[in-house]
Amino acid sequence: MTRNRTLLLAALAAAGCSFAPRARAADAVWLSDLDLTPVRQGWGRPQVNRSIRERPLAIAGQGFERGVGTHARSVLWIDLAGGAERLLASVGVDDAAGGPGSVAFRVFGDGKALWESGTMTPGQPARRVDVDLRGVRTLLLLVGDAGDGIDFDHADWADARLIVSGARPRAIAAPREEAVLLTPKPGPAPRINGPAVYGCRPARPFLYRVPAQGERPMAFAADGLPATLRIDARTGIIAGTAPGRGEHRVTLRAKNAHGEVSRAFKIVSGDALALTPPMGWNHWYAHYNRVTDAMMREAADVMVSSGMADVGYSYVSIDDCWMNAPKHADPLRVGPLRDERGDIVPNKHFPDMVALTDHIHSLGLKAGIYTSPGPLTCAGFAGSHDHEAQDAARFAAWGFDFLKYDWCSYGEIAKGDGSRAALVKPYALMGEILKRQERDIVLNLCQYGMGNVWEWGAEVGGHSWRTAGDLGFELDRVFEVALVNAEHRAWSKPGAWNDPDYLQIGHVGDAREGGLPRPCPLSPSEQYAFLSLWCLMAAPLFYSGDMSRLDELTLNVLCNPEVIEVDQDPLGRCAAVKHLTEDTFVMVKDMEDGSKAVGLFNEGEVEAAVAARWPDLGLSGKQRVRDLWRQRDLGELEGEFKASLPRRGGALVRVWPVKP
Ligand code: GLA
Repeated sequence: MTRNRTLLLAALAAAGCSFAPRARAADAVWLSDLDLTPVRQGWGRPQVNRSIRERPLAIAGQGFERGVGTHARSVLWIDLAGGAERLLASVGVDDAAGGPGSVAFRVFGDGKALWESGTMTPGQPARRVDVDLRGVRTLLLLVGDAGDGIDFDHADWADARLIVSGARPRAIAAPREEAVLLTPKPGPAPRINGPAVYGCRPARPFLYRVPAQGERPMAFAADGLPATLRIDARTGIIAGTAPGRGEHRVTLRAKNAHGEVSRAFKIVSGDALALTPPMGWNHWYAHYNRVTDAMMREAADVMVSSGMADVGYSYVSIDDCWMNAPKHADPLRVGPLRDERGDIVPNKHFPDMVALTDHIHSLGLKAGIYTSPGPLTCAGFAGSHDHEAQDAARFAAWGFDFLKYDWCSYGEIAKGDGSRAALVKPYALMGEILKRQERDIVLNLCQYGMGNVWEWGAEVGGHSWRTAGDLGFELDRVFEVALVNAEHRAWSKPGAWNDPDYLQIGHVGDAREGGLPRPCPLSPSEQYAFLSLWCLMAAPLFYSGDMSRLDELTLNVLCNPEVIEVDQDPLGRCAAVKHLTEDTFVMVKDMEDGSKAVGLFNEGEVEAAVAARWPDLGLSGKQRVRDLWRQRDLGELEGEFKASLPRRGGALVRVWPVKP
């Protein structure tokens, strides 16, 4: 700092002015000196002054003392706060990569491309980066995989520094995106939502709340309802005993001061349940091992009061931790695992399971429960091993309508036998037992995709199956998880659903003991894309955030009936994926009425123009296009639909062929 500048600062300070910490005039701030916690990369964590293999940084024999060793695909956002002048670096594939990787470095300033390396391969000399940053607020340093996957993509930002004269740069997770609410507010006139088809088994208890938006009071009716069923005119809850085998065609009606609507509804009584993907709420990502009866009741109440039930959410599901554990930090969750008859004992947070399901059913909603085929659940609570039939009978007697059956400690029983027969065994057993219950219980297989569960899940009586491990809490894998799940599209059909895990938006929990729900880290665009992806895949739609803290954006993302209709389409297809670039792809789903739902996605960090071309979607001629999120017709389009997609965002349209 010059003497004059020092004197000036001292004078200003004496006058009561305060300053944010600033770098000195034209200082070099080394990239490796930033807190690199927010960096996302395809493998490992960023390394300071060494390569991703923890060796000295070296590119084509040239050593570097400083720099950041990373791995494609790597994303580093930096808030420059207007203080930076230049970025200087030498980039390339690290000499220790040990294989044929190829990478591409790119630099963006406020969304504009400032520099790119082109494809770089091992042994290629470092390329010099010298970028003018004056006027730039947010810098983005990317390393892509150059289109051939990320194997051996060890990338060095060597000698990397920012020449800074103002505020100190700071690595950030991503620039903040203002929320724009896409789903229009529902109007006052009635609108009946929910699936067009519903499966049940003859003579079992029947419960279905007609999902309908519009001002209350509303008068409901159902023409052609089987004699064993009744509809409550005020609530729209249909209850009674399921009719005999066969298809029962019903016309649902809803009327209020603003109008009257009707909608066809087919009740299929037979052996199949979950003819469309189950929708509801599961406590896991909101409350982990803190779940209580009161939270479940509150979730059920809010499902109705928030309008979620009016677009089709109906299961209110308890996950792990409702039983007793041999040991646990919360003494109210420790106690006898079973009583003298061998019946499983709920812990003290669940004083009366029948009263709980009664409450849920009184709202026209369904109740879900959880157990494991192993001796203990994943969180260390009592499992159902050797008590399968007894527990299933108990769940039915308590009034549960859904069971999540989670592998957890069953590995001890399987004794490391990873054969398909061993993986199938516990699920086939529970599937058979559930069929014998005098109650319809939808079965969710949770075993993280082992033994290609999608190939046999339906045969053993499962209605949905998780295709992978837990989505977790950090959520930067939403696109990746969706793309893996969609690979199993051939197995998706009515009554048989691939499950990529729960919808985690709004306030989601913190798995650490005592950690409480906090706002999810996804941008609004990512949240809308999350729902679009799940609906295009015909995935079960289970929200798993805190129901007591639903905000406007969360409800706007969760409750768009035109988007949900894509998920609930009776054909039950999962969309096909067509990759366009490293960052962009299109998904197309056949719908029962001959239309197609089309999603356009941008996994990348900067806005991208994407086109869904008709030939790629199996379409030709003019198509009528509707934006499903905005519920707005976009006209008749020839050849393609183009959209500019925000960073990690998407668009969802439905297209109908125009008859010539
Ligand atoms: C596993 C499952 C999760 C959740 C927990 C409960 O991790 O995959 O969905 O049920 O167990 O402990």
